[in-house]
Amino acid sequence: MIVDFFNIDYAAGALFTALWIMIPAYVPNPIAVVVGGGTPIDLGKHYRDGRRVLGDGKTYRGLFGGILGGILVGILLIWIEGMLGFSIHTLLSVVLLASGALIGDLVKSFFKRRLNKKRGEKWLIADQYDLVAGAFAMVALFDLPWLTAHVTLAVALWIIIATPLLHRGANIIGYLAGMKDVPW
Ligand code: CTP
Ligand code: MG
Repeated sequence: MIVDFFNIDYAAGALFTALWIMIPAYVPNPIAVVVGGGTPIDLGKHYRDGRRVLGDGKTYRGLFGGILGGILVGILLIWIEGMLGFSIHTLLSVVLLASGALIGDLVKSFFKRRLNKKRGEKWLIADQYDLVAGAFAMVALFDLPWLTAHVTLAVALWIIIATPLLHRGANIIGYLAGMKDVPW
């Protein structure tokens, strides 16, 4: 497997699979940035440490809009797979990846507040991999056969490499477009 990773055809195929698999998990965050706002999920409540439970950056609109957006894009992927004659995503995988991405984001924000980091403050590694951890936790819990069938070691390596790069790129675009207050 490790040796295969250095075979260019194999590595390119695994990169495509990695990105294709992660699209339903990558989409919810930027959608949440666009549609987010309004009532915060923690309803403005404070935790026993006196700080906000999640903060104003986690809203119901962002959560549900983002998950719905990820699912709709995932359904489009399933349709494209049918046209091109391959099969990776299922309705279940798409729902788990999209919801897991933003659940991971919520869990991260909970711990970010406990560490007294302000909304939008940078938190290296956690900010980049929250969606990966959340998405894979959901798939591992509710569709382990799908996970083992499609996420090979090479695919997992590509996800680890590509995610922070795409995260950074998307946030710079969001910042330049005036949709995000900070470029991370
Ligand atoms: N957003 C939202 N609801 C969510 C997730 C995100 O409304 N469940 C919107 C918010 O406007 C948020 C923006 O998307 O400010 C960027 O998301 P993110 O970077 O995850 O939040 P931060 O503002 O950085 O907050 P935190 O420090 O808690 O990560
Ligand atoms: Mg952030």
